[in-house]
Amino acid sequence: MNSSQVDSRFDNREGAAVSVQIAEKSKISVIPVSDALGAEVTGVDLAKLTDDQFDLIRKALNEHLVLRFRATNLGDVDFTHFAARFGDILPSPSYTRSRPVYIPEAPLVTVISNVTEDGKPVGEHGDGELHWHTDLAFTETPSALTMLLAREVPPAGGNTSFANMYRAYEGLPADLRKRLSMLKLKHQASHNAQGGKRPGYAHLNIDDPREMPGPIHPMVRVHPLSGRAALYLGRRFGAYIPGLTLAESEALLNEVWAQAIGPANVWSQSWQVGDLVVWDNRATMHRRESFKGQGLRRMHRLTTRGERPVGLVADPVEF
Ligand code: OGA
Ligand code: MN
Repeated sequence: MNSSQVDSRFDNREGAAVSVQIAEKSKISVIPVSDALGAEVTGVDLAKLTDDQFDLIRKALNEHLVLRFRATNLGDVDFTHFAARFGDILPSPSYTRSRPVYIPEAPLVTVISNVTEDGKPVGEHGDGELHWHTDLAFTETPSALTMLLAREVPPAGGNTSFANMYRAYEGLPADLRKRLSMLKLKHQASHNAQGGKRPGYAHLNIDDPREMPGPIHPMVRVHPLSGRAALYLGRRFGAYIPGLTLAESEALLNEVWAQAIGPANVWSQSWQVGDLVVWDNRATMHRRESFKGQGLRRMHRLTTRGERPVGLVADPVEF
């Protein structure tokens, strides 16, 4: 599909016209994949990217929040070079890491996989469901972008879904938007999205979200590039809104989460080998469905450094 054949289903989508313009300038096509978020980029060799092409890709990411490149044929060194154009690459996360370096010639790449060698996993996260989350929200300066490059995929299962957190925010009633913009959220650091304990917290026996350790970020954050407001929810497990009773916090979080991950707000990526998907953690959440018993999956992963989330309201209530 070239730029003049943009799927008419997306004609009404805000930003679609910009995609066409971008495409005509450089022969890159940027075609929305759903009316929630996401676009597929074609017509570019990521190992030989010009500055102009990269600029168009960065703008497309800012607009569509998730970009998919198919059949990339990228080696891990070129993958690292591509990722580094967006910003500093974060070293592999020590909170899950079972090996210091996975790929000697591309030491910043980590592996997300259920593949085992000599009975030991070659990567992280196995084959189970990964509940909705946004990467590193439980740190003071969460990562900006995450990129997964599919090296091996099961015949079915293991899809990754993305939710648009601008839309999630904009879809809420005005009074609720206003209330949320005044609130903060504690993102507990001791447990993962599934409720399992992270390494280093094995001896902690806290099951009250109010007591779990972790950073506090605004519930509504302003994206540093777009200037738009997005809901910032992190993980549902263990989240707590300081200043509310636990019951009030749970009720409000349940209400907001239901809106955020509603089907109108979500697109799901069904993986093929060679797919590279880049997403912006500052305006999206993601989840992975289980693929237990469905085969082997191996993703190579890079993330870029982000910033401390900034709230929509200059001085939200401090508790
Ligand atoms: C991640 C992640 C999802 C997947 O790497 O941050 O959530 O589909 N991965 O493997
Ligand atoms: Mn993730």
